[in-house]
Amino acid sequence: MNHQHSLRSEAPNSHANTRAILGQPRLQRTKPIIWCAAVLCFIFSLVLIFFGIATLILYLSMKPRNPTFDIPNANLNVVYFDSPQYLNGEFTLLANFSNPNRRFGVRFESLNIELFYSNRLVSSQIIKPFTQRPRENRLQSVNLISSLVFLPQDVGVKLQRQVENNRVNYNARGTFKVRFNMGLFHLSYWLHSLCQIEMTSPPTGDIPNGKHRCANELYDSRGE
Ligand SMILES: *[C@@H]1O[C@H](CO)[C@@H](O)[C@H](O)[C@H]1NC(C)=O
Repeated sequence: MNHQHSLRSEAPNSHANTRAILGQPRLQRTKPIIWCAAVLCFIFSLVLIFFGIATLILYLSMKPRNPTFDIPNANLNVVYFDSPQYLNGEFTLLANFSNPNRRFGVRFESLNIELFYSNRLVSSQIIKPFTQRPRENRLQSVNLISSLVFLPQDVGVKLQRQVENNRVNYNARGTFKVRFNMGLFHLSYWLHSLCQIEMTSPPTGDIPNGKHRCANELYDSRGE
């Protein structure tokens, strides 16, 4: 009797238990997934913020600086006229390319050096492409030859007068494509450098102290 009662009274209880057991696991199974997703989202946003800040710091610390081109020395070996309007000349310049960046290398491509007298192109020379390590300087001798270059008579006369006065003014223009290797991405643009050079006359023609000036200019900035 007692046993029967306990059985009967247990029945609703056990039913409630079963419901609780059936219900609870469903709640518990859903919750961890949501929590998991929330935690993952949180971690993901933290990682995203971390990488954003890291990229910014990396960029700021690596901030690319322009390579420079300079002409520390030059020699005017020969200037003579075959006939009054045809110039022959030989000019040698020492080019100084430098990469001021501490963290990455730079590649110089499509290098061309042009020599002008009175805005007239009198000679040009192509230089082989090269790569510079961080903080590297490169000195290179460039030989510029003019062979029977036509100059209008007034320009020729002006040059001959400058040679007589031991003060010859040339302009040299360097054009190069500069390419930065910054890990995953590359950046390249054209760099132009214009140098004004005052020389003494041949055969010993050189640059008196402080008589040259180069300006580096950046053109056509273009990412790749
Ligand atoms: C070349 O240029 C670099 C950077 O401007 C300079 O430190 C170095 O003294 C130059 N070298 C010569 C020989 O002029």
